[in-house]
Amino acid sequence: MIDFDIDEILKKSLEVSYNLRDPIFSKMDVEYSSFFMRPKSYFKVLTATAQLYPEAHFLELGTFTGASALAYAYGKPETTIETCDIKDARRFVGDDFEGMNFTMTDCRDHVWKTKPDVLFLDITHNGEDERITMANLERQGFLDGVLMFFDDIVINDEMKKFWAEVKAENKRDITEYGHYDGFGVGIYE
Ligand SMILES: C[S@@+](CC[C@H](N)C(=O)[O-])C[C@H]1O[C@@H](n2cnc3c(N)ncnc32)[C@H](O)[C@@H]1O
Repeated sequence: MIDFDIDEILKKSLEVSYNLRDPIFSKMDVEYSSFFMRPKSYFKVLTATAQLYPEAHFLELGTFTGASALAYAYGKPETTIETCDIKDARRFVGDDFEGMNFTMTDCRDHVWKTKPDVLFLDITHNGEDERITMANLERQGFLDGVLMFFDDIVINDEMKKFWAEVKAENKRDITEYGHYDGFGVGIYE
């Protein structure tokens, strides 16, 4: 199990800078890339996590355009990261991106091959899908010691309730690194 240090990750995220000419960003809209350039952002928190813990296996639930997956991959260019979505809406990455293993699946009941060390949960935001997904991972014994990031934890009452229920050591609302809809982190216990 990896001994994650959340304070260290947040500190490191303030040092992250992106070279938007890097081929990794070749498919990204100029407009969207401005989110990467903010002094504090959850993209930088993901990149810093990948840089500090290159041995960690990353699993993102909810790929959408691929922006967050790219942020993680930027910090860990030599290895593969795992990301999934119920539909394929990737705009910023294609199948030719070798470092990214994309699966089109419903994460509420998907059976994973590999236990993650770092999880990023960013799906429907209705609270119930998040609860079902966490229970699915828990059943597979895939949450112990996992560093978990949750997006949009205050976007609505259902997500606020879900966030309040999350069992985690060092559980913290780090919305100041995310966006106004909330961003949370914790180590599963
Ligand atoms: C907010 S977007 C993810 C954004 C992405 N993580 C990022 O930061 O760029 C949410 C995504 O979750 C996907 N999603 C919703 N329910 C899902 C499920 N049960 N299994 C997998 N993906 C799901 C949606 O299709 C949508 O693309």
